[in-house]
Amino acid sequence: MNNEELNKVACAMVAPGRGILAMDESHPTCNKRFEKLGIPTTETMRQEYRDMLVTADGLSDYVSGAILFDETIRQKTLDGTPFADHLANKGIIPGIKVDAGAKPLAGHEEEKVTHGLDGLQERCTEYFELGARFSKWRAVITIGKGISSWACIEANAHALARYARISQEAGLVPIVEPEVLMDGDHSIERCYEVTELTQRVVFYQLKNQGVALEGMILKPSMVISGASAKSRADVETVAEQTVRCLLNTVPAAVPGIAFLSGGQTDQEASQHLNAINLSGLSRPWALTFSYGRALQQTAMQVWNGDNANVQKAQQALLWRAKCNGSAALGKYTDAMESQAA
Ligand code: 13P
Repeated sequence: MNNEELNKVACAMVAPGRGILAMDESHPTCNKRFEKLGIPTTETMRQEYRDMLVTADGLSDYVSGAILFDETIRQKTLDGTPFADHLANKGIIPGIKVDAGAKPLAGHEEEKVTHGLDGLQERCTEYFELGARFSKWRAVITIGKGISSWACIEANAHALARYARISQEAGLVPIVEPEVLMDGDHSIERCYEVTELTQRVVFYQLKNQGVALEGMILKPSMVISGASAKSRADVETVAEQTVRCLLNTVPAAVPGIAFLSGGQTDQEASQHLNAINLSGLSRPWALTFSYGRALQQTAMQVWNGDNANVQKAQQALLWRAKCNGSAALGKYTDAMESQAA
């Protein structure tokens, strides 16, 4: 394990004003989003869509890394360059989703545990050879009546730590993603409670597995009210609670934290990240984005499966990337949105 090299990559992933494009949707997730828009769910369409994303000129101004899915890292862009090589040539670090998805947790059917440790070492070694320099594993924690359970938090934290260590041994910087889902009508206080406990247990397990903290990135959800909560906390409260929660759980050795968007609107995701960076609480890590939907959803709608729309879709993507790049510096303003309109 070369901790110095891992640290170099991790720091580059969270460089000032840049963040990560999560474009690693599994087939079922990508197809679901395509179906909603009436886009055919074929391998070629997924390739064309992802080609549109990575060939957007200037993407690297705001995007430091892109997370690919197994299918994509084996595909080529439309001009015949492997996706990973294309990204690297543009100064964007290629990464790869390595988990096998969240499945029902035996004995706790309302909750999930992420699969994928079997054969992970071999897969990571192959992905490194294909050009990946970082990896991602997502765990989901559900808030509901009587949950999340200790069994769910512990099982997921353990798997995250095993994954992180295996990744580092293969030369890949692990993105450790414990997502506390926004689904539900819970309060921000309840979200804080679950997120803090989850992150504490995750770092306890990371320590147990000997994960080099300087060679990883944390990808958490924000501390936020449930999506269907009657009264939802405002932007400043989300920012304050999120930073407070991180300060209580994340060691200073971790180079950076890159948030997921988790179903927030494009604008909310930018506003929250911006407020987090403007928070008066001092902290040791870089705070940026690793958004999927909040970067892609408008671009996907504009593209709509028609290559005649590529340029417009790329403009939409670049715009969200610019907004979030600015938010990572605390320089995003609502006025930027009206400018885009
Ligand atoms: P969202 O930003 O859409 O939550 O996706 C991020 C991600 O990588 C989920 O694993």
